[in-house]
Amino acid sequence: MSQPVALVTGSSRGIGKAIVTQLARDGFRVAVNYYNKMDEEHNRAEAQAVLDAIIAAGGTGIILGADVSTSAGATELVESTIKQLGSLEVLVNNAGINRDQLLIRITDEQWHELIDTNLSSAFYCSKAAVKFMMKKRYGRIINISSVVGMAGNAGQSHYSASKAGLLGFTFSVAKEYGPRGITANAVAPGYIESDMTKNLPPETSSKMAEQIPVGRLGKPEDVAALVAFLASPAAAYINGQVIRVDGGMSI
Ligand SMILES: NC(=O)c1ccc[n+]([C@@H]2O[C@H](COP(=O)([O-])OP(=O)(O)OC[C@H]3O[C@@H](n4cnc5c(N)ncnc54)[C@H](O)[C@@H]3O)[C@@H](O)[C@H]2O)c1
Repeated sequence: MSQPVALVTGSSRGIGKAIVTQLARDGFRVAVNYYNKMDEEHNRAEAQAVLDAIIAAGGTGIILGADVSTSAGATELVESTIKQLGSLEVLVNNAGINRDQLLIRITDEQWHELIDTNLSSAFYCSKAAVKFMMKKRYGRIINISSVVGMAGNAGQSHYSASKAGLLGFTFSVAKEYGPRGITANAVAPGYIESDMTKNLPPETSSKMAEQIPVGRLGKPEDVAALVAFLASPAAAYINGQVIRVDGGMSI
């Protein structure tokens, strides 16, 4: 494979940005996906800045706007990546939202928004990607889950359900497509500094850091390093696994 292609959903900022940047550094041609249904101008500008930095560092890629919570948006995103970059070896299902709320206050609409964005998106993107990867008999699907998908968390019943759902999805895809050269793995970050966690009160953040054996919160680059390894040829025999990146928080 010369210059394989990687698509990372929700990669205009945060963990997705760190992943797409690392993959570009590792020689992938990348598709930087930004969310185009809300704050489109802002998100496109962020995605363009991510791509500009990749190009400045000698990499190659494109930016693509899409709403991966819809079947049409996600499918078009995968198909456009293949059309514009000519291939697809790695799909990272990273796009996600959190809407922390007590179970009794979560509306049906909020439940569906979260499940569609965090879980259905991985189904839509993977389905379109696997159709292409099967023909090449090669592919890597990496799903960004969470430690709360394994342990649960008060105020995150919908979020935890979506992240646990991603694990079952990962295991099944790994069994179904392993024989065809496609691996599927999940990464479960702990508490990572990003827009998703920036609104937590500072005292909550420092209290959490105290409980993490390595003594600090995670950085998006900590997650990206593992994803890059799973996307590399060296990880060919790792399939259907869920690997935590949490500084030891959950031990
Ligand atoms: N930050 C953490 O502590 C943490 C911990 C565990 C798991 N995660 C997971 O990591 C992933 C990245 O989170 P982050 O911390 O970088 O958060 P973030 O909010 O900074 O990034 C999320 C990205 O997803 C995009 N997105 C949201 N809805 C979308 C849609 N419908 N279509 C396309 N893109 C969409 C956003 O625009 C954004 O770029 C998420 O799946 C999140 O659940 C984060």
